[in-house]
Amino acid sequence: SKSHNYRIASIPADGIGPEVVSAAIEVVNKLAQTMKTFKIEFTHIPWGTDYYKKHGRYVDENVLDVLRGYDASLFGSVGAPDVPDHISLWGLLLAIRGPLQLYANVRPVRTFPGTQSPLRSAKASDIDWLLVRENSEGEYAGHGGRSHVGQPWETATEVAIFTRVGIERIMRFAFTAASTRPKRHLTVVTKSNSLRYGLVLWDEIALSVSKDFPSVTWDKMLVDAMTIRMVQNPASLDVIVGTNLHMDILSDLAAALAGSIGVAPSSNLDPTRKNPSLFEPVHGSAFDITGKGVANPVATFWSAAEMLGWLGEEEAKEKLMRAVENVCEKGILTKDLGGTAMTKDVTKAVCDEIERLG
Ligand code: NAI
Ligand code: MG
Repeated sequence: SKSHNYRIASIPADGIGPEVVSAAIEVVNKLAQTMKTFKIEFTHIPWGTDYYKKHGRYVDENVLDVLRGYDASLFGSVGAPDVPDHISLWGLLLAIRGPLQLYANVRPVRTFPGTQSPLRSAKASDIDWLLVRENSEGEYAGHGGRSHVGQPWETATEVAIFTRVGIERIMRFAFTAASTRPKRHLTVVTKSNSLRYGLVLWDEIALSVSKDFPSVTWDKMLVDAMTIRMVQNPASLDVIVGTNLHMDILSDLAAALAGSIGVAPSSNLDPTRKNPSLFEPVHGSAFDITGKGVANPVATFWSAAEMLGWLGEEEAKEKLMRAVENVCEKGILTKDLGGTAMTKDVTKAVCDEIERLG
């Protein structure tokens, strides 16, 4: 039988990360207190740019073992104005995703009640997508280098890695996800016209995996044309799968089309469940609004809801999402969604709504 007793690593890190993660912890604690069907304990882990400035590294040397001591992690964002972004990102987030083989980055996107897509003609129901980002290879595998540094003939390479194992497992994940949704449709995004090797392998594997999923209809898009389709025909899309880099870009576009980057969640999953998964908003440190109390906490609330679902607390996930939807519908929205509410107003409203729902 299941314990319903969870230990979560909280890694707020940089920028607005601490603001949105503490808001999410408040909301999840409220959920646990009112529902009484599960227990959850968050342990603060101080990794991030302050830690780096003190210790010369973004994470503990035993980062993977530390995380394996928890059921999951809730992460904020990493990146600071005075540290190069590639140092901070590789120092923290990419030091976890690849080594823990959190190979499926799952990013649901939809327009919340009471909010609007910037697309003039879009109905709220037109954008209801599940973006599946390959999270362990591509341009993010770490292959490359620089030579002749500082010379006029300086050379840099950034090698994209695509393996049969890596592509096949993300493709199966995406087809499986599509098979459980009402539309049962998958769009495979590549760029197999100009890229002749890695992305041609993507197309081939998509075709072979599709044979195991006769209930799923699927199509292929080149990534550039995909941006047009997302804007012009959003209702034609359901589940979308693509490479690490392509889906990094398309998921920001998707979030903006749905209403705001401030509501977009992500789950970094190890579908084999050998390692604990990590949940985080799609957005970054947002230096322009850090410390102002205006960050939208909804992306992190939704990420926490996905975490609860992954842990098996489906009812808690549903309740949290209903509370967030009801609060949006009442017009309690942060500035990015056209409202005037502060982070703490939205957080309190969601806590109150959780209590009301019981
Ligand atoms: P960003 O996502 O931090 O910000 C982009 C825009 O969205 C900004 O105008 C920001 O104010 C707005 N925004 C983001 N989150 C918001 C929220 N919750 N509520 C309201 N508005 C929000 O992307 P940017 O500016 O490219 O990156 C800033 C730093 O964050 C960099 O150091 C970058 O490397 C890092 N980053 C880290 C990520 C992570 O930890 N997963 C992801 C993306 C960027
Ligand atoms: Mg991104």
